[in-house]
Amino acid sequence: MIKVAIFGYGTVGSGVFEVINKNHETIQKKLGNELEVKYVLDLRDFENDPVEKVLVHDVDVILNDPEVSIICETMGGERPAYDFTKRALENGKSVCTSNKELVEKHGAELIKIAEANQCSYLFEASVGGGIPIIRPLCTSLAQEEIESITGILNGTTNYILTKMEMEGADFDTVLKRAQEKGYAERNPEADICGYDAGRKIAILTSLAYGKNVDFADIYTEGITAISKADFEYVKQLGATIKLFAKSVHKDGKYYAMVAPFVVSSENPLYAVKNVFNAILVHGNMVADTMYYGKGAGKLATASAVVADVVDCAKHLGKHIRIVWEEEKLELSQIDSASRRFFVRVASTDKAEIENNFGKVEFLESVSADECGFITEEMTESEYKEKAAKAGNVINMIRMD
Ligand code: HSE
Repeated sequence: MIKVAIFGYGTVGSGVFEVINKNHETIQKKLGNELEVKYVLDLRDFENDPVEKVLVHDVDVILNDPEVSIICETMGGERPAYDFTKRALENGKSVCTSNKELVEKHGAELIKIAEANQCSYLFEASVGGGIPIIRPLCTSLAQEEIESITGILNGTTNYILTKMEMEGADFDTVLKRAQEKGYAERNPEADICGYDAGRKIAILTSLAYGKNVDFADIYTEGITAISKADFEYVKQLGATIKLFAKSVHKDGKYYAMVAPFVVSSENPLYAVKNVFNAILVHGNMVADTMYYGKGAGKLATASAVVADVVDCAKHLGKHIRIVWEEEKLELSQIDSASRRFFVRVASTDKAEIENNFGKVEFLESVSADECGFITEEMTESEYKEKAAKAGNVINMIRMD
């Protein structure tokens, strides 16, 4: 019997309790051992909930119990999750978490502590909810040089963009409706400004290249400037707009960014709609592999936490190796990256536009006082220079 504790009985923590109890037999068969939740830590009381029998309010009860070998940290936030995790690992207890904030900030350090104490720090649920992506990246693709990762890593923004496209609605209208339905937070900043996706691509990039990527170094642009008119233009190309979190390793340089992209129907990420997430990973030998599923939600996220618990249970007394050094991965400025750009300008003078931007492919205007077009390939800094010279750009979206 392997005894487990859960820190935090919120949405994900109660999901972990449910997954372990409901799928008890299946897990036992696959693991060859039984999992039992011995404790759940929470400050609150839960009357008439089955958790009552195992609920404790004092973390030391769990940390000092030698019977507990695996902890699920589903508290979220940096403190006190960081202190509890550190103490658990120092006591030789493996920790499995869904806490992306903690993983992004302290992942490298916590893995090192786990290694020193012959236990593991696993975080499959921290990126892409229920989608297996961390384990494939660290294990199934360990033999690959990862050339690029492109992810739709935020369900809220993918939902908003899907609705804008399907209903021809504006950003503010769809956001308001998403908030009413509970698909978007009352304070949606972390999602719509791209910070949530930025944290997630920081984690994936750190794992792909083995060194620490600081979220603050990632160029991040959200979806707040995307309008109904943008969709009307890209529809003419048979394309859509997605918020991509990307990292690229090219010519010895590393780039990472979050921004909206114009995505053609040939890209497999084009078909990822609503709250779903997906990640396309390109390795130098295997080429493209793609991972798809629910990026959030109680049971999907809890399922990923329990997958880590099963892995830890198979490796009790051992450290599951994850290469993520504390040394910083130097990211290059995206200014030197080359691509085409979809641009809208407040002008109808085509000769002047080509004078400013070079040869372009004009789209059918969706309004009498503007033009939409696609530039030829150029670097970000070349684009910026041309846009500044033109001085009349309404919006720009990068072409994938
Ligand atoms: N706010 C996140 C999303 C939840 O919309 O995808 C999962 O991290």
